[in-house]
Parts: sequence; structure tokens; C-alpha cells
Amino acid sequence: MRRRQFLSGAVAAIAVGCTEPEPASGPTTQIRSTTLPPPPLPTLVEVDDQGIVDDPFEFGVASGDPDTTSVVLWTALGSTAIAGDVRLACDVASDPAFDGLVTSDLVSAAETDGRTARIVADGLDPATTYWYRFRVGPHVSATGRTHTLPGAGAGAERFGIALSSCQNRAELLRWDNHITLADDPAVDLVVWLGDFIYERNASSLEEYRALYREARGDARLQASSAAHPWVVTWDDHEVVNDYDGTVDPARRLDAYRSWWEFTPTRLPRPSSDGLRVYRFVDVGDLVRIVMLDCRQYASSETVLGSEQLEWLADVCNHGAAHTLLASPVIVSSLNVGELTPPYAFEAHPADQAAVIAALNAAPDPTVVSGDLHAQMELELAPGITELMAPPLSSSFPPDWADLLPFLPFASPSVVRAEAAHGYLRLDYATTGVTHEFVNG
Ligand SMILES: [Fe+2]
Repeated sequence: MRRRQFLSGAVAAIAVGCTEPEPASGPTTQIRSTTLPPPPLPTLVEVDDQGIVDDPFEFGVASGDPDTTSVVLWTALGSTAIAGDVRLACDVASDPAFDGLVTSDLVSAAETDGRTARIVADGLDPATTYWYRFRVGPHVSATGRTHTLPGAGAGAERFGIALSSCQNRAELLRWDNHITLADDPAVDLVVWLGDFIYERNASSLEEYRALYREARGDARLQASSAAHPWVVTWDDHEVVNDYDGTVDPARRLDAYRSWWEFTPTRLPRPSSDGLRVYRFVDVGDLVRIVMLDCRQYASSETVLGSEQLEWLADVCNHGAAHTLLASPVIVSSLNVGELTPPYAFEAHPADQAAVIAALNAAPDPTVVSGDLHAQMELELAPGITELMAPPLSSSFPPDWADLLPFLPFASPSVVRAEAAHGYLRLDYATTGVTHEFVNG
């Protein structure tokens, strides 16, 4: 190890709260504190090439589900990897040159996980930027950048959240929006509202994996994934269009499994019971982000299912200044008669009323939805704004797109509607929240 790396590693180790001598409280303690060995310093773990000749890091890196002291780091290996499990090193540092090494650990890219790998980097400082990379033999992945969240009471002054969904590969040029997202200095966290893939004809684990590999192989998605931590939920196309409880359970499990493999989440591996994806993320005292699952429990009777509805009412009661409800599916009514999708909240008034009741008890609520491949501002209920984040690439049907700006005349809840692409950014501050549609 180089001397500079050694010294900066020592500083970093202290910064992340490695074992320190006890504070002096008497003569005995003073003697002990001077004789304790120095705290262990992080060093780069060694990992051999395991027979891998070509660079296997063809899907880039990603981070996700951050909290105040940890974050999930992710990568996947390409077809050049050898059969079987592969040991990788994962380094985390306080600088992009990795001089200030914070941790270096081994992680397995298991064949049974589609040769994807994830590790929770913990013991980190709140509200801090870190850089990370994976290694095997001489091969080193791209460097990712991530952030931990501010702690409660830390007085976070501003926090930018980008939201988008729907990245159909049929509109490949629109994927340039990932570059804009990667380069947006006001973004601290990306919230993905679903349709990470479009299932096309996939119905088996390997077929779903192939779609994630196609998406993750795009350098533009790799850029936005490496630039920010992501919190991800799913919509319908991760399984099949407008699916419900009648879809083959084996197919659904394969779809969930591949989603989990290629998503930087700390959720457990899906089981035959499915996967609980709904969860919340607290950004200090500034905003609670509530992530919904509008598909897994949907039926002719409900969108969210009774358990998720009960949970929603509970988590909307909190002490942060703002509430962001991230709902893959539109919550407001569009009043478009027979065009109303059967899965919409509008078609399930009891669920819609329960969501509004939960939000009425929540501090300063905003709903953000996706799914419809349009960009909208709506009034869900008095005092509750719903924003529809634009799709990243998927297009509204061209024959109907020109009619979208007229939707407010037909639908009293719609303030503004248009066909657009990109992402929505919410800028949270102690003084309030503003939003900007970033279109490209
Ligand atoms: Fe979509």
C-alpha cells in the first residue's frame, strides 16, 4: 500500500467511527488509552482472476436503498465470466481516486443469482458522498458514486429527488435522458416507479434476465446508475402487461427473481410468497418517501391489498416535514369513462379513499405516479397535489398524444397534461418543496 493511501485510510477509518480509545475519566483509563493498539486500517483485499480473461464488468455498477450509515452496492458479470460463483472485491472510498479507502471486502457473484453481486457497505457517515468499485484479478469496474442519507435532527437543508419510470427499448434515443439524469447536480436520489424492463415475450428466468442484461448493458443507464443511489419499485411490465393474480405463479416468481437480481436493493430474495417491495425511506426530518406496490396484490377488489393499505395509514403518520408518496399507478381520477384502466385507483374507490385519508393525516403530502407515459399535474384532493413523472423513454400513443393538453377540460382533477419524456425532480428544502419537469 502506498504511504498516502495508508495515511488517508487512517483518517477515513477514524471518520467512519472505527474503534477509538475510551474517553479519559480517571487515571486508569488514561493509562489504558495510551497503550491500546491503533485501530485497524482498511487495506485493499486481494482477489485473483479465477480464470477470467476479459473484463467481465459489462453491466456497470449501481447503488441503492441508502440509509444514514449504509448503502447497497451492486454489479453483475457478463458472459465472459467463467462458470460457477466468482469472488469479487468491493472497495469504498471517500474520494474517486480511492486514496481515502474506507472499506474493502469480498463479495460473491453467484451463478444462482445470475452472476449479480450485492454488498451492504456499512459503518458510513450520514449525508456523505462515497465512491465504490468492484475488482477481480486485473479487472476493475467503473467507479460509482453514492450518498448516505442525513440523520434525523441533522438539519438537512435541501435534498433533490428525481423520479421516472418506463424505459421501453423501442425508443432508444430517449435513453439519453439517463445522461441528463446522471449529470444533474441537484439530484441526490433517484426513485424509479417501475417498468424497468418491458417483458416482450419473456416468461422464464433466463428470458427475464436477458432483458435486464440488455438494459444494464446500455452505457447511458450505467451512467445514471453510477451517479446516484436508486430506490426502486416495480409496475406491471416487470412481469407482464396489466397482470393480476391469474398469472402463472412460476412465471411471476421468475420475474420477481430477475428484478431482484438486477436491482440494487436490500430487500431479501423473493420467495414463492412473492416479495414485499412496499417500504419507506426517511431523508432526515425533511421528507418521508413512501414506496408503493400497485401490482402484486391487485385484484378485482383492490389495488394495494388490505395489508398494504393498513401499513400505508400507519407510515403516513410521521414527524418529517414532507411526505412523498411514490405510486407506480395514478391515484387521481381521470374521468375518461370506459378508457379508465381496470387496475387504476379510480376503478377501486375504497382504495382511492383510503389513500387520500392516509395522505390527509400526512405532513405536506405530494403524490408522484407514472405508468401512463404522460406528464401531468393533478389535484388528487383539496390540498393534495399529484404529479405524473414523465416516462424516461416510453411514448404515449401518437394518435392520442395531441389530445392530452385538452384533458383538463374533460377531467376536473387534471391541471395540466402533455406527452413528454425525461424525469421529474422534486427539490425539498426546509422552506418548502418545488418541482421541475426535466424533459429531453
Ligand atoms: Fe410503462
